[in-house]
Amino acid sequence: MKIVSVVGARPNFMKIAPFIRAVEAHNQSLAGSGAPGIRHLLIHTGQHYDDNMSRAFFKALDIPEADINLGIGSGSHAEQVGLTMIAFEKVVRQERPDWVVVVGDVNATCACSITAKKEHVRLAHIEAGLRSRDMTMPEEVNRLVTDRLSDLLFTPDRLSGENLRAEGVPEKQIRFVGNIMIDTLEAQREKAAALDVADIVNRNRMGGGGLGAVPDPGQGFSLLTLHRPSNVDDPAILGAIVDFLTNELTRELTLLWTVHPRTEKQLRRFGLWDRVAAARNMVLLTPLGYHELLRLNMDAAMVLTDSGGLQEECCVLGTPCLTLRWNTERPVTLREHGGASVLVGNDVDRIRKTCREMLQRGRTPARPELWDGKTAARIVTALAGD
Ligand code: UD1
Repeated sequence: MKIVSVVGARPNFMKIAPFIRAVEAHNQSLAGSGAPGIRHLLIHTGQHYDDNMSRAFFKALDIPEADINLGIGSGSHAEQVGLTMIAFEKVVRQERPDWVVVVGDVNATCACSITAKKEHVRLAHIEAGLRSRDMTMPEEVNRLVTDRLSDLLFTPDRLSGENLRAEGVPEKQIRFVGNIMIDTLEAQREKAAALDVADIVNRNRMGGGGLGAVPDPGQGFSLLTLHRPSNVDDPAILGAIVDFLTNELTRELTLLWTVHPRTEKQLRRFGLWDRVAAARNMVLLTPLGYHELLRLNMDAAMVLTDSGGLQEECCVLGTPCLTLRWNTERPVTLREHGGASVLVGNDVDRIRKTCREMLQRGRTPARPELWDGKTAARIVTALAGD
């Protein structure tokens, strides 16, 4: 059996690492038996290309270098999807895999799914069935297209399976396997725990960014990540968030802000950069490596984020999490489902009120069903048996 799997952007890397390891383990288990193993090829579309957005994750998570990098880079959605399809079609025609495996919901996921099906290759989606029901979110379009085309849909939780059934996906195509990102979290937890918070902050502080001191151990800090177009592409919304952070939040707690390249670009464009760079008690950090962000999450008094992956990690680590969105495709991470996260959108009154509640609440780890670190093995068993 030949599998071509696809990654394109940062959140994909934590999902493919355990899959590749599980393929290797499957092949080893067959060694000497005479049974043919799985031939696996990894394709990187090149959507993310900066060292700290891509290469650093390959290194940290021991992902073998991609067999082919399509070098697509940045661009509009149509440019990214269109160019990826053109380049990936050549790969599929040349390799003729039995399966194309895609993960998550980025443009690479959607583009390669369409291409695989147009080439009549079977398609498997890891992290299927997530729905925010917010069609202004590019990822929601990617999820709908990918799931509609997939032959095997690997879901991270039971709610995702219900979403797929409601859309008419046949039962035999849905496999509830758990959350593959938690495989990575469990495999890397110890290595992350061994890192030193002050050292992470000092090594990743942005040039000239932030006057905040490194937080004392035990003194507590909050941690921010922000990159969704709905939060960073509108100057009024981004400006109001920056006002709250600089005038209010940082009076109570040191804020560590790991700044996504899209957000840095927008802060500069809207004339907000000098303010955040000069803010007291706020430390601007470059995009962090996997272990470094996990380590900060382990100690943070509170996380503020619009990232889906971080919501999931907060759920398992129990870090109080303010999700800076009005909806989530990951309801299992919400407090009402036993998780650690609360939706606060970008309404400053709501963020302020919830911050207070969250800081009093403290850590409450939760583990949704099958988020047990063994998801990738279940996926490879299903693919090998199909
Ligand atoms: C993409 C994904 C999003 C995911 C996020 C994680 C889509 C539709 N969006 O959003 O789901 O949560 O990745 O980071 O696929 N840039 C760089 N260097 C890089 C990559 C990007 O400087 O290595 C800058 C460029 O200015 C680029 C901008 O960031 O235009 C946005 O990058 P892009 O990949 O288009 O979308 P993200 O916002 O990163």
